[in-house]
Amino acid sequence: MDNIVILTGAGISAESGLATFRGPGGLWEGHRVEDVCTPEALARDAALVHRFYDERRAALGRVAPNPAHVALARLDREWPGGLLIVTQNVDDLHERAGARRMLHMHGELNSALCASCGTRRAWEGSLPPGTTCGDCGSPTLRPDIVFFGEMPYRMDAIERALSDCDLFVSIGTSGAVYPAAGFVRTARYHGAATLELNLERSAGSAWFGETRLGPASELVPAWVDEVLAQSTQSSPMSR
Ligand code: APR
Ligand code: ZN
Repeated sequence: MDNIVILTGAGISAESGLATFRGPGGLWEGHRVEDVCTPEALARDAALVHRFYDERRAALGRVAPNPAHVALARLDREWPGGLLIVTQNVDDLHERAGARRMLHMHGELNSALCASCGTRRAWEGSLPPGTTCGDCGSPTLRPDIVFFGEMPYRMDAIERALSDCDLFVSIGTSGAVYPAAGFVRTARYHGAATLELNLERSAGSAWFGETRLGPASELVPAWVDEVLAQSTQSSPMSR
């Protein structure tokens, strides 16, 4: 087993104190996702949408990576084969834990996107509607979040990684949103083994070769220990 692709969702950040999307009550921090995560919502009430993401960006300063993020960063450092963490999350907890071989397919809170010229740039603090783009001068900077109906980022890199992977692991996602929910099928089609680590069975559980249920902060470190132990047993150095 050389190449691993890991998909993470809101569940990996839940124990850090960040709300998931489809938890009890189905509200995201008090808002229906449809009210703050669509192009229509941005057109209808830019102040609400910008304020919502300002609050979530500010919340990042009050939370920290949990043992699941730390374990994935260790795997990233120590795994000798290919590895890619594809996160649906817009928080920066994977990076802060030290992960490097990763990408955000749904955008990032700590980034601003220009709706006119497409420039993306690191952003801290609040981002009010009408903020001017430093590249094209238009007052069209928006939260760099992929809204429902918009194309996720880096799909080419993700598809390539899925077609080459030997193991696909899904952590903390409900399998409710495409294209991420379909990655397990792509990986299986290319012959990969598939593992789901989640608090409860998800919409995609039937597609996984193995599902382990429990909190990510327990399941992920245990799984990383297992995988790294296998890699040292099988590597030629340990003959
Ligand atoms: N450990 C592991 N899994 C957990 C934990 C935990 N401590 N807490 C919750 N979970 C699981 C839940 O059981 C659920 O299956 O995490 C999953 C979270 O699902 P969602 O809230 O739907 O979040 P996610 O799957 O990341 O949503 C996908 O939907 O709203 C869009 O763009 C948004 O990226 C998001 C996408
Ligand atoms: Zn611009």
